Amino acid sequence: MREIEAHESKLYSDLAPLYDKTFGKIFYARLRSVIEALDIPRGARVLEVGAGTGTSFPAYPRHCEVVGIDLAPDMLARAQEKILENEWHHIRVLEMNALDLKFPDNNFDYVMAFHVVTVVPDPVKLIEEAKRVCKPGGKIVVVNHFTSTSPVLGFLTEALDPVTRYLGWSTKLKMKPFIEEAHLNIDEVYKLSKLSLHSVLIGTNDKSTDH
Ligand SMILES: C[S@@+](CC[C@H](N)C(=O)[O-])C[C@H]1O[C@@H](n2cnc3c(N)ncnc32)[C@H](O)[C@@H]1O
Repeated sequence: MREIEAHESKLYSDLAPLYDKTFGKIFYARLRSVIEALDIPRGARVLEVGAGTGTSFPAYPRHCEVVGIDLAPDMLARAQEKILENEWHHIRVLEMNALDLKFPDNNFDYVMAFHVVTVVPDPVKLIEEAKRVCKPGGKIVVVNHFTSTSPVLGFLTEALDPVTRYLGWSTKLKMKPFIEEAHLNIDEVYKLSKLSLHSVLIGTNDKSTDH
């Protein structure tokens, strides 16, 4: 039998209404601090790939223009409800594959990927597409968990991959090889707290590293 891909999890379809009550609640504070720290300027164009139910949306300043894309219609339906309820005229959502973006090159000042690089089957392709649609000198911002560098913890978390994939994410992505393979020109890598399992990666889009 074929192994389930993380993005095929029921979490993003039948169980989408549960997302905000569980993961969305946990993730919001983290995303708000990352977005606030970016100090996004007036008029900036922002793309968020794998935006889901729009967990991050309340954090974006109204003076920027945000497009959220996602593959899952059930997740996007909730995001769209929030946009209407809150009259977020600066945000719109579209159904689209992050691995095959329907935007022209050099189109956004920021491309965000929050909790999604371990959900797509090809995280390097996701970054390649992010770099393509991001303007030269624009920012690529990734927030995600990565496989622990501790041999024991790394082994244990990787062993759980078939289970977590069923739940909706992979535990098999090592940060350093990922950054190298994706040719991400990293400015900053940090964690929001010492014990956090998630890392924040901020890169400047250097088109000269494209392949
Ligand atoms: C863990 S959720 C993260 C949602 C949101 N970014 C957050 O932080 O709450 C992962 C999201 O990625 C979406 N996704 C998975 N594969 C995708 C793809 N190829 N293109 C676009 N979105 C995708 C899923 O549908 C889901 O909404």
